[in-house]
Amino acid sequence: MPTVVNLDGLLVPPEQAKVSVFDRGFLYGDSVYEVIRTYGGRPFEEEAHLARLRHSAERIALSPKWDAPRTAGEIARTLEAARGGDRAYPEAAPWNVGERYVRVVMTRGAGEIGLDPALAVDPVALVVVQPLVGPPARAYRDGVKAAIVGVRRAAPEAIDPSAKTGAHLPNVLAVKEARDAGAYEALLLDGRGFVTEGSSSNVFAVFGGSVRTPPLAAGILEGVTRGVVLRLARATGILAEEAPLRPEDLEAADEVFITSTVREIVPVTQLGERQVGTGRPGRVTRRLHEEFRALASGSGASIPL
Ligand code: PDD
Repeated sequence: MPTVVNLDGLLVPPEQAKVSVFDRGFLYGDSVYEVIRTYGGRPFEEEAHLARLRHSAERIALSPKWDAPRTAGEIARTLEAARGGDRAYPEAAPWNVGERYVRVVMTRGAGEIGLDPALAVDPVALVVVQPLVGPPARAYRDGVKAAIVGVRRAAPEAIDPSAKTGAHLPNVLAVKEARDAGAYEALLLDGRGFVTEGSSSNVFAVFGGSVRTPPLAAGILEGVTRGVVLRLARATGILAEEAPLRPEDLEAADEVFITSTVREIVPVTQLGERQVGTGRPGRVTRRLHEEFRALASGSGASIPL
């Protein structure tokens, strides 16, 4: 069965996976979530994702229904139930074939309608497992277009950017704006005009041989993939710094790439109407992606720069 939902511990087919219309996740985005993916059928960096889920819940004072060990157990059960039945996707990058996308959602629950979180009485925990549909192979080969959009990242004082919550309307509108401009990913600025992150990714720029990505203080999600890439860069002898980026820095960069669980490392070869660097995926991006692939596939192999 390719898509399976685990709703409060019950494995159900997707058409039976229903939550209350009074659930605050539905009404207000009053929920936290994680997106995890598998390699070889096993969750990648699961501990980091579950730690971030706990952090997100703490940041919004939400008591999750399941703790981390229970969540890991429920993910494993759901993955087991979702084995087999994959449909062919000719565009897929080979390392995504047969893998799974895992979405864990914890809501504050249902209750009387009203913003006061004290009204929540019935928290929901769920896991959705479905076939992973990553970017098509050509995105890695040719790169993608990203666009800096008008929608701004919410101020850290409004909503803590380090919490991965269900309150996603700005991201939804950012993606719409990007798609309207023919772009694959939206890049969001903060209120002062600094680059923060993508709608569902972190962003890196390459200058010469070194990489730069906005610091956590820029008001971003601490991406698990971002962390892996920073570690890989440093282990590979590539200078990697966390420092503010302005739109003009991105425009002047030799290479730009985005990172996320589902996408790994995707080269950005066009920024709005401008070409990035040579207009082709760059050497440092490709090297880091090779390193990432080696790590994820467990070979640990290294290629010369
Ligand atoms: N998004 N920034 C934002 C706002 C995100 O939503 C995500 C992840 C990232 C990258 O984080 P990570 O490397 O841990 O996946 C950065 C997930 C994949 C999603 O919502 O689908």
